Amino acid sequence: MKVILTGVTGFIGSEVLSQCRRDPTITSIIALSRRPLPQSIQKDPKVEVIVMEDFTVYPSSVIERLEGADVCIWAMGTTEARQDLEIDYPLAFCNAMAPVVARQGKTFRYIHTSGRLAERDQERCLLFLSEGRRIKGKAELEMMDFEVNERKLHGGHWKTFIVKPSMVLPRKGDKGDLRWLGSVFIGSVDVDELAAAMIDIGRNGSEEQVSHNAEVVMRGRAVLDRILYGEEREREKASWSLW
Ligand SMILES: NC(=O)c1ccc[n+]([C@@H]2O[C@H](COP(=O)([O-])OP(=O)(O)OC[C@H]3O[C@@H](n4cnc5c(N)ncnc54)[C@H](OP(=O)(O)O)[C@@H]3O)[C@@H](O)[C@H]2O)c1
Repeated sequence: MKVILTGVTGFIGSEVLSQCRRDPTITSIIALSRRPLPQSIQKDPKVEVIVMEDFTVYPSSVIERLEGADVCIWAMGTTEARQDLEIDYPLAFCNAMAPVVARQGKTFRYIHTSGRLAERDQERCLLFLSEGRRIKGKAELEMMDFEVNERKLHGGHWKTFIVKPSMVLPRKGDKGDLRWLGSVFIGSVDVDELAAAMIDIGRNGSEEQVSHNAEVVMRGRAVLDRILYGEEREREKASWSLW
């Protein structure tokens, strides 16, 4: 599976990147970043880093490298209510990638990282973080509309999925900070669960186009358990072969 990632230098995106690197079924990772990644990552033969000068422009040299991709996990974003970052950049990617997907004639899954508090109703009065929440809600609508328009134009190969985590916490055993305090009020997901769930949606799709925090937690935990138990089984098999 060939995967395109954004936000790879961030908290969520870096976990997605590291799980993709460990996953033997993912054979190629294209990281779109505004700055180079550490040498240890750049040296990984599975990873190709494209340093983007402008996230609204996809020259043919970049498009060529996206050819053959099956999935994009979009983990770029801030809470700063920026129209360019939240809407223009992902839409520019979708518009650049759509002809490639149409040519390929195979399913392409685009997974958009939104947030639990994102608000789609642009008229609704919000008491806090109003601009940021509205822009994220608008982005959700734009990405879902994109799938509808693509279906009309090129058939149903383009699939958009929206993931809406609550507070994202460091992986278990790694909780050096106090972010978990906020999660008492709005719920949370551990970053490794979130990354595992997004990669799994990329691989298998999802019945629901929108995944809320509770579904993300369940899906992520199930995937991580499968990996863990799978590794235990391999270790057991290896120890049997010693006998
Ligand atoms: N963390 C949470 O608890 C949480 C909860 C719900 C939803 N989310 C959403 O999930 C997404 C990722 O969150 P995160 O916590 O991983 O954020 P993060 O650690 O701040 O990472 C943000 C990523 O976006 C990139 N980025 C920011 N501004 C950019 C720009 N102008 N041009 C290009 N790239 C840019 C950053 O690149 P640089 O490293 O180059 O700056 C980084 O890779 C955001 O949309 C966030 O709102 C987060």
